[in-house]
Amino acid sequence: MAKRIDVKDLDIYYGSFRAVEGVTMSIEPRSITALIGPSGCGKSTFLRSLNRMHEVIPGARVSGSVLLDGQDLYGAGIDPVSVRRHVGMVFQRPNPFPTMSIYENVVAGMRLNGGRGVRKAEMDGIVEGALQGANLWNEVKDRLDRPGSSLSGGQQQRLCIARAIAVKPDVLLMDEPCSALDPISTLAIEDLMDQLKKDYTIVIVTHNMQQAARVSDRTGFFNIAGTGKPGKLIEMDETSTMFSTPSVQATEDYISGRFG
Ligand SMILES: Nc1ncnc2c1ncn2[C@@H]1O[C@H](COP(=O)(O)OP(=O)(O)O)[C@@H](O)[C@H]1O
Ligand SMILES: [Mg+2]
Repeated sequence: MAKRIDVKDLDIYYGSFRAVEGVTMSIEPRSITALIGPSGCGKSTFLRSLNRMHEVIPGARVSGSVLLDGQDLYGAGIDPVSVRRHVGMVFQRPNPFPTMSIYENVVAGMRLNGGRGVRKAEMDGIVEGALQGANLWNEVKDRLDRPGSSLSGGQQQRLCIARAIAVKPDVLLMDEPCSALDPISTLAIEDLMDQLKKDYTIVIVTHNMQQAARVSDRTGFFNIAGTGKPGKLIEMDETSTMFSTPSVQATEDYISGRFG
């Protein structure tokens, strides 16, 4: 379960375009790290580099290293599919498989990861555990055979979280997971994140400063010097420090809404 992440000198490219430059950061297990910064500064790109999703885009590559409990995810002989099992991801728009049942949505990741031989009783237990873990069980336990698309937006996002945790990852990456949700569903996801951090290392990209301040232990601020320039990690610290006494003027300007 929960592992630490050490990123060293990471540059991230789309073809010849360097989208992110020189990121070095450490992320503790069982913590929530928020990544903030203006649009286009490379937050999503950086997040996708943490589970080797970046390279699915033709021409995309990285240089530098990402260590998960000391093991380089980009090392020779590392299987990207297995990396994605250990480092799960939840996206901006809830994306359950619409025609699949709630039950099948939860086990979808497991089936892809060779869970075909798992017996029904065991599968039922995993589904219940993942839905409990995602705080959705009580709302759906009587209709597990209904399609994923029959749920509300907030429920669908919790279903996606259940799907991500069903394979028992070490790290959970979340890219603006609440940006398509109403305030009540947003609070439900934030409460859930607070519970999940007991077991997982969580990294969340958010445009919502209040959310970063509410949920995260540490915050990293990314910025770009201008269009076509690479995004950089400007500053990273305890969230309370970042929001009260950041060291860099640009952080303060961004947090106080002066740009972005
Ligand atoms: N698939 C892609 N192909 C080429 N460039 C991309 C792609 N996705 C993002 N970019 C570029 O990389 C930079 C960082 O984008 P992104 O990571 O989406 O920023 P953020 O999430 O902070 O808004 C931007 O200049 C964006 O245009
Ligand atoms: Mg983004």
